[in-house]
This record gives sequence, C-alpha cells and structure tokens, in this order.
Amino acid sequence: MPQIAAEHTTPRVSIIVPTYREAENLPRLIARISAVLEAHEITAELLLMDDDSQDGSEELVEALRLPWVRMIVRKEERGLSQAVLEGVRQARGAALLVMDADLSHPPEKIPELLEAIDEGYDFVIGSRHVKGATTDENWGAFRWLNSFAATMLAKPFISVRDPMSGFFAFPRRTLDRADYLNPIGYKIGLELLVKCRCQWVKEIAIHFANRELGASKLCLKEQLLYIQHIRRLFIYKFGGWADLAQFLIVGLSGVFVNLIVLTALLWRDAPRPAAVASAILISMLTNFFLNRRFTFSYARKGPLFKQLLRFCAACSLGALVNWGATLLILSQMPGLPPQLGALCGIFVGTLLNFIASRYLVFTHDSL
Ligand code: GDD
Ligand code: MN
Repeated sequence: MPQIAAEHTTPRVSIIVPTYREAENLPRLIARISAVLEAHEITAELLLMDDDSQDGSEELVEALRLPWVRMIVRKEERGLSQAVLEGVRQARGAALLVMDADLSHPPEKIPELLEAIDEGYDFVIGSRHVKGATTDENWGAFRWLNSFAATMLAKPFISVRDPMSGFFAFPRRTLDRADYLNPIGYKIGLELLVKCRCQWVKEIAIHFANRELGASKLCLKEQLLYIQHIRRLFIYKFGGWADLAQFLIVGLSGVFVNLIVLTALLWRDAPRPAAVASAILISMLTNFFLNRRFTFSYARKGPLFKQLLRFCAACSLGALVNWGATLLILSQMPGLPPQLGALCGIFVGTLLNFIASRYLVFTHDSL
C-alpha cells in the first residue's frame, strides 16, 4: 500500500478527523480515503481524534491494524475544535487536512486540495458555496437558514464563500503565523482562517453529502457557543472598536428600557421630570450590568459596588445632560411626543458616557 508513511519519513499529508460516536462510519471512511491515497500515490497518516466515544470505535480501528491510521482517544478538554487542535499538534505531515468522519466530505477531493497547497495557497477549503458545488437535496429550510446566518456573521472577518466548512487543508507554514488559538464551539476552520491571517485562500467545489449513518452532534448549545466565538474574533480583529460596538449595542438595549419605563410611568400619570429621571436611572442600571458582563468583561470579577458607584458617578454628567436636554426639548416643542424628546436627550448623553466609562470606570486596574 503506497500511502503508508514510515515512521521516519514525513508524510505528505496528515488527515485529521474529529470523531465522536462514528463507529458505523469509520470503516467506510478509512476505505474511501485509502483508495484515494493509493490511486494518487499520496503518503499520509490518518489521525482519528476521538473523544472517548465508547461505541467500539477504538477496538474497530485497532483490529484493522493499519500502520498509517492512528486513533487518539482524548479524555480531557472535549470538543470538536479542541480535538482538531490536538490533532494538529500531533501531526507529522507537510500539509494538514481536516475533514468530518460522517462522509459528508468526499475523500475523493483530497488530491485536489493538496494540489492547491502545492500551487502555493495558504488555505484551501472544500466549499459548498462556489460554482459547481452541490449539497444533498434534503437539507431542511432550517439548516439552510442557520448555515446562512452563521456565514453572514463571519463576513466581517473573512471574505470567503464558505468559512463554515469543516473540510479544509493548509501547509504547515500557515500555522507558524497563528496567533493564540482559542476557538469555542466547532468552527475551527474559521478560527484558523482569521488567526493565521490567511491571504491566499482557494475554494474547491465539493458535493456535501448528507450523513447516512449515526447522528449529528451539533445542537443549540454549539450555536450559542458560535455567537461567543464570533464575539472573540471581533475583539481579536477590531480591538478597541469592539469595545465601542458592544457599548453601543448595550446602549441600544438601554434605550428600549428607558422608553418602556418612561411610557409606563407617563401612562400612570407620573410627573414628567420624575418619569424622565426614573427612566434614565433604571436604564443606567441595566446598562451597568450588561457592560460589566460583556463590553468590559475583563473587569467582571472586580468589586461590584465600587464599580457601580463609579459608573453612576461617571454617567451622572451624561444622565444630567440627558435629563436636562429631554426636558428642554419637550418644553420648546410642546407637540412633540415625550419619547422623541427622550431619544434626543439619550443621544446627547451617550457619547459622554462612553468616554467616562472607558477611561474612568472599567479601567484595567479596577480588577
Ligand atoms: N472529537 C470530537 N469531539 N469530534 C466531534 C465532536 C466532539 O465533541 N462533535 C462532533 N464531532 C465530529 C463528528 O463525529 C463528525 O466527524 C464531525 O465532528 C462533524 O460533526 P457532525 O455532528 O457531523 O456535525 P455537522 O454535520 O452538523 O457539522 C459539520 O458540517 C458543518 C457544515 O454544515 C461540520 O463539518 C461543521 O464544521 C460544518 O460547519
Ligand atoms: Mn455531519
């Protein structure tokens, strides 16, 4: 079998496959990969990164006794991305290739991916979204929409058609450029694309087949982790601007809190100055907690009470300006709905607040 890589030689490629409870798929996967490698005379090692499936996978691979196949059973730090990263660390190949175990990704495309690496590309994707790519038809509308939304969220970081793909390959030198890798969830390909600052990316059309055996492992929890992953990438890529963006999103939530409280109080005939003031105070509180948890999360273990006092002090000027501006505008334009006046006031007070929060409250030394 020409694909067997002897101990002392460097295989052309290390194929890394994250697997969890894929005993049914492994024999077919290994057979198809083996046939492709043999036909193209590619030397390779196959690293099956298993998260202690306990479904017979281990015994099955052992019984095959293939010297180019290694099953690595992981018992700590579980998860698809972690499994792939561990595989990357253990790999000896000149190129690294990652694919799923469930035969969604066609092993027959491996030679094409490797050719692109030889052509000098930093990163090669087996893509579902370029011309010529196909997917099995019974992809439900939900999965399609889900994948579409996830792809759109990744757009600010990378301009490839299928950043979500779990089928990709790259030369070892790409890793040398990697900044600290800390993916959460399962988008390890996206993490590598962004953190290795890949410039020359090629997408190769594949047929994405539906899994025939076994069950998918991706659930709602993974999708929520994906949002967190996107947030991390945002901070990585845009630094201080990410602070501002998050601050503005929190602020927007505060606007809604403010308007709801104001509307409710006015509806209960509260006097206007008191209603405007209460709406501002309550939204200040919700803003404080959200900013502490997300925007400036590095300070979330800091002293709560001290931070709250500082936040109120820092925002008091903005709040006062907001309050004054709102009442002034409303007195100047008697016909204006109070909510519109409040919006103008909020706008004036916000910029002041950001500057004060960033430089006076959530400082790095407030931990
Ligand atoms: N080691 C390990 N640990 N492997 C895992 C884990 C885990 O916690 N969870 C899943 N896997 C393995 C599966 O055994 C499979 O080989 C591969 O990772 C993908 O898991 P699936 O359960 O088949 O996920 P999917 O089909 O929904 O997602 C795939 O397609 C997406 C595009 O639709 C993945 O390739 C995603 O990366 C890809 O974005
Ligand atoms: Mn799958």
